[in-house]
Amino acid sequence: MAQIIDGKLISQQIKDELKEKVSALKEEGKEISLAVIQVGKDPASSVYVNNKKKACAYIGINSLSYELEETISETELLKLIYDLNDNPVVNGILVQLPLPSHIKEDKIINAIVPEKDVDGFHPQNVGALCIGEKGFVSCTPAGIIQLLKRSNIEIAGKECVVIGRSNIVGKPMSLLLLAENGTVTIAHSRTKDLKEVARRADILVVAIGKPQFITADYVKKGAVVIDVGIHRDENNKLCGDVDYEGVIHKVSAITPVPGGVGPMTIAMLMNNCVESALNF
Ligand code: GUN
Repeated sequence: MAQIIDGKLISQQIKDELKEKVSALKEEGKEISLAVIQVGKDPASSVYVNNKKKACAYIGINSLSYELEETISETELLKLIYDLNDNPVVNGILVQLPLPSHIKEDKIINAIVPEKDVDGFHPQNVGALCIGEKGFVSCTPAGIIQLLKRSNIEIAGKECVVIGRSNIVGKPMSLLLLAENGTVTIAHSRTKDLKEVARRADILVVAIGKPQFITADYVKKGAVVIDVGIHRDENNKLCGDVDYEGVIHKVSAITPVPGGVGPMTIAMLMNNCVESALNF
């Protein structure tokens, strides 16, 4: 029987641990604040942003909400970020992506001081991860490491295959698995014989962005499968990048969609906010 890795439960445990830490900090007179910036009204972004604010409220972190017009200029947004950088009350700055096309995302990310970059997207934080120094780590891959550790899944020495090479998931995921002494392969859309590569994996992390793409013939018997994707299928039901029903009988452990990786991203964002406050 495959172990179903319960991201909802594990994220709840992490949030409860953080709630206690925040409450202890409050007793010392220390408040934590996260600035949450949304530009425009993209419905998916609104859902994510609201969930982040709800998590803040649950844990006891103040969320400072900035809901900006789609037409805001890059200069105006940069000005807000500089103000938040200089504001001693603010511990973390989150700019929900994607941004409208007239604003350069990398320019905005680079403007956030690395000490408040709780998303872990700033090049200084990415570089720190690369060379094993302290810094904020992108929340989704950091959450996946927590899922594995808290499910007692050993990473050291394992063949880890990450499908996807994005800056937010694939690349940091690979570096984190490497830091845990995994043997890491990064596969992507241009990989030759993806099936053969994926079938090498003891731990297969899938962030390919294609609904139910990974079928049983991509998976080695007994592998651990982590599904980062989230889509709606033809019946409007949520599904991942992995054909869950097709692979479940072959794997030793798997994350469901929903309720696997998704809830971990917010839990790790909250963790980064608390870390930020502790480092101040
Ligand atoms: N858009 C999609 N995922 C994320 C995320 O983790 N952080 C931010 N800021 N925007 C996103």
